[in-house]
Amino acid sequence: PRILILGAPGAGKGTQSAKISEEFDVEHVTTGDALRANKDMDISEMDTEYDTAREYMDRGELVPDAVVNAIVDEALSQADGFVLDGYPRNIEQAKELEGMTDLDVVLSLDVSEEELVHRLTGRRMDPETGDIYHLEYNPPEDPAVEARLEQRDDDTEETVKERLRVYRENTKPVIDHYESVGVLERIDGEQSPDEVWTDVEATIEDAA
Ligand code: AP5
Ligand code: ZN
Repeated sequence: PRILILGAPGAGKGTQSAKISEEFDVEHVTTGDALRANKDMDISEMDTEYDTAREYMDRGELVPDAVVNAIVDEALSQADGFVLDGYPRNIEQAKELEGMTDLDVVLSLDVSEEELVHRLTGRRMDPETGDIYHLEYNPPEDPAVEARLEQRDDDTEETVKERLRVYRENTKPVIDHYESVGVLERIDGEQSPDEVWTDVEATIEDAA
């Protein structure tokens, strides 16, 4: 299936996408991870205000559309089924996506703002596997993993605030758009990860 997963920063898109990719055997296409892997690549020839993705990401701003459109276009052209995470983040990107592919399911993970801040500031990443943890909600069992955990550069309190502002201003209208055309499947993202997964899995199975 071709799956789009929407939601605010910290809503659990990466956590659920990893499960979706495994269980439904689809490609996890994520602009956030793709950009983080190439943070310092020179993008200035695309007529951007800053020279690297890092400068946008560390501020909590959106990286220019031309950069992310190219990433997604390339990744989707190589994928049969996919779960798309982190794109589209504004109405222009949503229009661009329409020209690239059809979608079988559009999911939205709904989580309150207070909980989002708590999830983002407590998140830790395993740099070796890319696995996502949380200091309280989902700590690693293996002490060797615990010792190498890292915080994402944009998970500071100040950048989190800006990311949530950008979300409300640019990305929320994208979710409203899918809602208004009647394809949006809302999921209560504030439940435990396993409960969210139960709902996500059932929704995809119903649609696909
Ligand atoms: P991106 O990497 O996409 O970040 P984001 O959208 O802000 O989302 P996150 O990755 O922070 O959260 P998530 O929903 O994946 O949550 P997670 O599963 O990790 O983008 C980063 C930056 O890249 C952007 O700011 C922008 O600069 C740039 N960018 C990316 N795409 C772009 C685009 N299309 N256009 C322009 N710029 C773009 O979970 C969060 C935490 O909560 C974890 O600790 C996890 O363990 C925990 N958790 C998850 N689920 C639960 C649960 N059910 N209960 C309790 N805890 C949970
Ligand atoms: Zn993510």
